[in-house]
Amino acid sequence: MSKPRIVLAYSGGLDTSVAIEWLKEHKDVDVVACAVDVGQGVDDLDEIRQRGLDCGAVESVVIDAKQEFADEFIAPALKANAMYMNKYPLVSALSRPLIVKHLVKVARETDAAGVAHGCTGKGNDQVRFEVGTMTLAPDLQTLAPIREWGLTRDAAIDWAQERGIPIPVTSKTSPYSIDENAWGRTAECGILEDPWAKPPEDVFERTVSVADAPDEPDELVLAFEQGLPVSVDGVTMPLADLVAHLDERAGRHGVGRIDMIEDRLVGIKSREIYECPGAITLINAHRDLEDLCLEQELAEHKRTEEGRYAQLIYNGLWWGPLKRAIDAFMDEANRYVSGEVRVELFKGHATVVGRRSEAGLYSYDMATYDEGDQFDQTLAEGFVKLWGLPLKTWAAKVQQQGDRW
Ligand code: ARG
Repeated sequence: MSKPRIVLAYSGGLDTSVAIEWLKEHKDVDVVACAVDVGQGVDDLDEIRQRGLDCGAVESVVIDAKQEFADEFIAPALKANAMYMNKYPLVSALSRPLIVKHLVKVARETDAAGVAHGCTGKGNDQVRFEVGTMTLAPDLQTLAPIREWGLTRDAAIDWAQERGIPIPVTSKTSPYSIDENAWGRTAECGILEDPWAKPPEDVFERTVSVADAPDEPDELVLAFEQGLPVSVDGVTMPLADLVAHLDERAGRHGVGRIDMIEDRLVGIKSREIYECPGAITLINAHRDLEDLCLEQELAEHKRTEEGRYAQLIYNGLWWGPLKRAIDAFMDEANRYVSGEVRVELFKGHATVVGRRSEAGLYSYDMATYDEGDQFDQTLAEGFVKLWGLPLKTWAAKVQQQGDRW
């Protein structure tokens, strides 16, 4: 009788390469390796596919999901200006639900009993993989070989070498734990675990330091339609290409470095370094265009929804009903967010220096202090009196009763 199958989220790195053999030995299963390209910068997907087989998988699939990641994951996040703790554009948190979607699809195609991931027990990613799987496929089991096994990296290397598993060679030297995709790059571990230590330059790959950034700014014009960017400097491109272009261009000016103390869902505070030049540039520009196009009450409410939305994505609830409902709100809110934004990339900043829109609510006639002012200032007198009336009434009452402050 054939063994039950498990679809493993495979990166081609040390942990998941070793996990294949471990699952076979300890769980008596056949492993299907599944690698998903979300723009993490792998050159050769075929090589990863082959490595999965060499490490003992019965089947190995690689999926190019770069376009899908941009259109179905980055796009809604951008419409919501989604930033966890107002700082982190959710890089890893966005890719996990997409990887889960493909794991489940492959599990169905190969008639598997469950899925597995290579996360430890200390992070958010285990939650995103497992809760995502529970939501899309409540009948599938989830396995966490690295969490269950609890081996250090060096011990894992020795274990693999004893068995002749062809693990990737670079693993023993890299001091950081890296995850990356089209929306950014994350770094943890090593010296970064001391929150007082300044991140060494070798942490960074997508950005230059401000000290090395060019002395000339780079100005670009981004066009948006209904909340999404469609062109750069008049050149129309698909979202995936546009994000990649901006990431590179803004990275050259040192834009998008983030150094933060982060509240993980599992209760740990951790020190995280992110590089998100494209994401930061786009969110800055999108927010600014919203300021021009959104009616005040909607703008105010949208800001509160944005925080909630980022939090639920961070916490692994992507496939749940609240996410879907807030998406509907975000789509509606972005209906008139179309126009152009001028952005200057310079010395670590992506600064909006101009914006315009057919749907813009800015009125020169209302705003100007010059000739042509259409704002009726006589209306302000009554408005201010009524606006302040509740406070005036309250203050008179408490002062009468001797309250002084
Ligand atoms: N702390 C970030 C998050 O939870 C980054 C996680 C990176 N994942 C990793 N396996 N290195 O989204």
